[in-house]
Amino acid sequence: MIDKFLESHKLSGAEYLTLLEGWENQDIARRLSQEAVRIRDHYYGRKIFTRGLIEFTNYCKNNCYYCGIRNGNRNAGRYRLTEEEILKCCHMGYEMGHRTFVLQGGEDPWFTDEKTAAIIRRIKGEFPDCAVTLSIGEKSYESYRLFREAGADRYLLRHETADETLYRSLHPAGMSLKRRKQCLYDLKELGYQVGAGFMVGAPGQTLAHLAKDLVFLQELQPQMAGIGPFIPHHDTKYGDEKAGSIELTLFLLSVIRIMLPAVLLPATTALGTLDPTGREKGFMAGANVVMPNLSPMENRRLYELYDNKIGTREEEGESMESLAKRAQSAGCRLVSERGDAVML
Ligand code: 5AD
Repeated sequence: MIDKFLESHKLSGAEYLTLLEGWENQDIARRLSQEAVRIRDHYYGRKIFTRGLIEFTNYCKNNCYYCGIRNGNRNAGRYRLTEEEILKCCHMGYEMGHRTFVLQGGEDPWFTDEKTAAIIRRIKGEFPDCAVTLSIGEKSYESYRLFREAGADRYLLRHETADETLYRSLHPAGMSLKRRKQCLYDLKELGYQVGAGFMVGAPGQTLAHLAKDLVFLQELQPQMAGIGPFIPHHDTKYGDEKAGSIELTLFLLSVIRIMLPAVLLPATTALGTLDPTGREKGFMAGANVVMPNLSPMENRRLYELYDNKIGTREEEGESMESLAKRAQSAGCRLVSERGDAVML
């Protein structure tokens, strides 16, 4: 199957499953990562784009069973950043070299559409050369339109899993894959650069589920894809499950790079959390984005999606210098650019 995939860059669901069944074969993994890097280099060179991540609220009305900041977790200390605090993060991030800011948060009704739009307008007003990415969950078409008109450029909304049954087992009744997918199509229609994605090794997930995720990405054609290993959080019902595999995650990053050649593909925080050199490995598998945290240190600890999330301790401050070194050690270089998706 590897030969067919390397030739056509596109497979059926059943064929993706066969390809994935070879994930532990190092020869196959190497051939995939070589092709993935070649393709990335063709479209983006050896550039690694940075996104300054601002986790501005950890209040969430949802209760995704795997997530540490789910509504039902009474042990999670909650916070919201003020508009001034958010702008301060942007100023600091701009000085560091970021030209994209990602506003990420739980689904927090306190931030009404109007408040959110006002924040977007302020950031775009003060930093006209920067892109604003939103990652604030499922909203109506009208809300997405308002944010777009306020200046938002991109939107991250992982689909989490493209399998109905697995989706239902990971989320409470009231959330649905259908709605999730509709949001992604709405965002595309409104002209956002859209990011979908999923966890690798989520409880109950099989290779067949992952093959479905690949087929969904192939169909959606997102400009970005966020793929990271599942990591248990102690205050969830999956606290004792084992984490997803680094190697399988890297394998999938390469497959996605080949399938969606111009995709912006982050080496995720979860990858860096599970393996100290996980992000370097991600770059060598075809990733070209890194998303360091800009949130105030006292809040980071509270934005705990899973256990031991990196960047939450003072001493491991993710300076641009340390990220530049990571990029370099993978044969790449960190750049200070917006890093928009190349249009094919
Ligand atoms: N492990 C790994 N990733 C997680 N996310 C949420 N909880 C976990 C976890 N326990 C991911 C989800 C979500 C993103 C913000 O973080 O995919 O979309």
